Amino acid sequence: MIELGSTILFAGLPAVEQARLLAELQELSLPAGAVVFHKGDPGDALYIVRSGLAESRTGAGGPGAAILGFFEPGNNFGEMALLNDEPRSATVIALTDVELWMLPRARFERLVRETPGVSLALARLLSDRLRASAQRVSRMHREFDLAAEEKYAALSPDQQRFLRRTAPLDPVPVELAARALDGVDAGHVLQELASQVPFVSPDGHAVYRYHSLFRELLLDKLRAELSEGERQTWLSELGETAGAMGEIGLAVCLLAEAGRVTEAVHLAVSRGKALLEAGRLDEVDTLLSTLPSTIDTALGSLADLRAELLVARGHPADAVEVLEEAMHRDSAVDGPGNGDGAMESDSAAEGGGRLLRARRLAELSFQLGRTREGRRWLREAGASDAGGDAIDDVATLPVAPSAFSGLMTLASLSGLRRASTAAGALGGRGVSRPLGITLSVLFLFFFLLAPPPPTLSLPAFRALGVLVAALPLVVFSVLADHLVALLMLVAWAGLGLVPVRTALAGFATSGWFLVLGVLGVGVALARTGLLYRLVLALIERVPARHVPLTLTLVAAGLIFSPVMPNATGRTALAAPLVPELAGALGYTPRSRGSAVLGMAVLLGFGQLCSLFLTGSSSGLLVHSLLPVASRARFGWGYWFVAALPLHVVMFALTYVVMLLALRPEAASMRSRETVRAQRRILGPMTRAEYIATAILVLLLIAFVLGPPLKLDPAWAAVLAMVVLGAANVLDANGFKSGINWAFLIFFGAMLSLGDVFRTLGVDAWLAGAAAAPLTPLVKSPTLFLIAVGVMGYVLNLVVRWQAACVLMTLVLVPVTSPLGIEPWVIGITALVTTNMWFLPYQSTIYQALYYGTEERAFTHKQVQPIALAYGVACLVGLAVSVPFWRAMGLMP
Ligand code: CMP
Repeated sequence: MIELGSTILFAGLPAVEQARLLAELQELSLPAGAVVFHKGDPGDALYIVRSGLAESRTGAGGPGAAILGFFEPGNNFGEMALLNDEPRSATVIALTDVELWMLPRARFERLVRETPGVSLALARLLSDRLRASAQRVSRMHREFDLAAEEKYAALSPDQQRFLRRTAPLDPVPVELAARALDGVDAGHVLQELASQVPFVSPDGHAVYRYHSLFRELLLDKLRAELSEGERQTWLSELGETAGAMGEIGLAVCLLAEAGRVTEAVHLAVSRGKALLEAGRLDEVDTLLSTLPSTIDTALGSLADLRAELLVARGHPADAVEVLEEAMHRDSAVDGPGNGDGAMESDSAAEGGGRLLRARRLAELSFQLGRTREGRRWLREAGASDAGGDAIDDVATLPVAPSAFSGLMTLASLSGLRRASTAAGALGGRGVSRPLGITLSVLFLFFFLLAPPPPTLSLPAFRALGVLVAALPLVVFSVLADHLVALLMLVAWAGLGLVPVRTALAGFATSGWFLVLGVLGVGVALARTGLLYRLVLALIERVPARHVPLTLTLVAAGLIFSPVMPNATGRTALAAPLVPELAGALGYTPRSRGSAVLGMAVLLGFGQLCSLFLTGSSSGLLVHSLLPVASRARFGWGYWFVAALPLHVVMFALTYVVMLLALRPEAASMRSRETVRAQRRILGPMTRAEYIATAILVLLLIAFVLGPPLKLDPAWAAVLAMVVLGAANVLDANGFKSGINWAFLIFFGAMLSLGDVFRTLGVDAWLAGAAAAPLTPLVKSPTLFLIAVGVMGYVLNLVVRWQAACVLMTLVLVPVTSPLGIEPWVIGITALVTTNMWFLPYQSTIYQALYYGTEERAFTHKQVQPIALAYGVACLVGLAVSVPFWRAMGLMP
């Protein structure tokens, strides 16, 4: 049996790609004589022969069918239907027992799109097939010509002349032939010819048709018989006769062939208009599609006709495209030196045509709500100024005046949308975007015009306003996150609210560099194939079912957490595992199964980090803020025990909701055989993999030794990336396109947010304002903790985790300590409740996962219920922990 690397299509793929692909191929065995598919079946997969022999046949593949091709091991078939989106072009039959691989259509398409090597191999294969067909056709052509010449020679001179003269007709109406060849009984002649020559056959009532190859032969003979001038005259005569008889399609072709292109076009257009008015749209289609290739339908009045046909079919936007192209092309054709190339060189008429076309474009643009374009076309159509006259003109357009103001508003918004789409950065849809923009502008004005509260300075108030105005842009997906983040930086620095140095402070933190380093290392690991090797090892050992798999991921994250105290960096490092694992289990991107894997990584590597003192830098920070006595009491072990019930509840509830909400589809069971085959393809570890492994191990050691040695893990991570770069394991391309720079920009801006707010005192003000209403609740510990939790959620909407948990601890501990509540209880409550991800922008951990999986693991919408469940689970966890903490003497 053949390996994937020996197939024509996939031989050039890198080993990792082959191993990944193998996971998605389905195996199929068929006995000799079985039909793989029939001609006309829908095309849903590509087939690759692993062993045995198959052949493609014309038609249903029955006894009379011709053989088109053989497929032996390594060959593929069934690609044509996938490429041209049509039914199967032939029947394929197994000649011997065959083993096949089936590659589903969606994966095939992705492969072709993403892998130039596969596209190239496919193109080569098809051109080989085309060449073979061409050779076969030319052989057939020669044989045909011999046979046709023989038949032709056997006819009488009159019959021969009749055939030559009527050859330009396709088909040949008896009446038309009779009129053109005065005095000949065309009906009789054709009937006789049909009985003598197999290439002449009746085609409906009083119409005959010549075989296309025979017709070509006859046309050659006509050319030999007549001079060019005489031939054109004859074609003209035929065309006029056809026109007079109402055979417009034929007439247009004949006139065009006779060199009378302008008349042909006029005839086609006037016929087309009449058909259009009569509502016979299909006939207009036929008319347009049978025009000879010498007539360009993208130009002049034919373009107008096509546009009107599109309008009549309810596609005005397509019509606008056609008309715009015509405008563009016509002006190019009208240019110097091209004059005689214009089909309608009557420039006065065409000038008028342009005017009408511009007006039509204006009408359609307004109908589509594209006000700006509408005005531009009106201007082109002659209205001198777009402000006054154009608007007057608009009133005469077929748009209800009352609807017009609404259209204008919509149009300006949609204009904005198009402009931004062109910038290539947007994700929002429908009405949500205008809503986001409106809210953002309203907030901005409010914060610019309203006076600040007495305890907040004006710059602080405005800096807060910038954030509040930015939120709707993110929440309603008006702009990509990183663009909103940049806008915020511009506003803070540009409005002079804080020094530039402060606005950009986040980019000058070691946290930013840690994530940069980790992302770079992650790209290198994925590209070498090491990560895929790891995934294979995992699925060889763990049953391919959700519960064991996700629990394994969570456990891996929890083991990793205490040794690498940066949750965002850790999650970023684990993120590329998700698409690899999903692919290996046969999940399509963003499927429910893939989302579940993503969520397991989020929980294990990110969200549950506060279970450990060293699970996150925020945890370490909160610990360092506790009074000396608390700090001494809460060492690593004590912290773990005290935090355990809270985290068990948080995990259990979220996990159950995750499985219920996402209901993952079953993983396609990989046989051990397949995994072994995948391993075989990967072969022994490569040099790049060895280097990547060594670097990864060293990096992990640096992470573990970091805290006790006071070594910042950021520098280890950046150094690791540099070494991988120097060894060319992370090449320039991986550095440029593999690392998610958009996320890094967003991340840096979010880090800056903390500095900006701290400098201006916004953070303390917010925390103070939130703490005030809590004080009366202190009497009921459970209620109080839940209220603190809710405060955390609210604070987390505007202040990111690392700052919010510190703030809450600082503000609340002085209030609660005298009441006998252990400061750590406040600290851990703050830690878990300010680490939410209800909204994607809230959490850099969540963002690191989302972008680290190249947005392939899940959609925001898919996981929103899980985020909510997580929020509720935190509160339940706090309530459950109260008696436990009381028993430990941490609460009164
Ligand atoms: P598809 O059209 O999807 O299904 C029938 C398959 O037969 C087709 O893809 C090709 O893979 C194969 N096939 C069709 N025509 C030829 C040909 N002329 N020579 C070889 N193979 C062919």
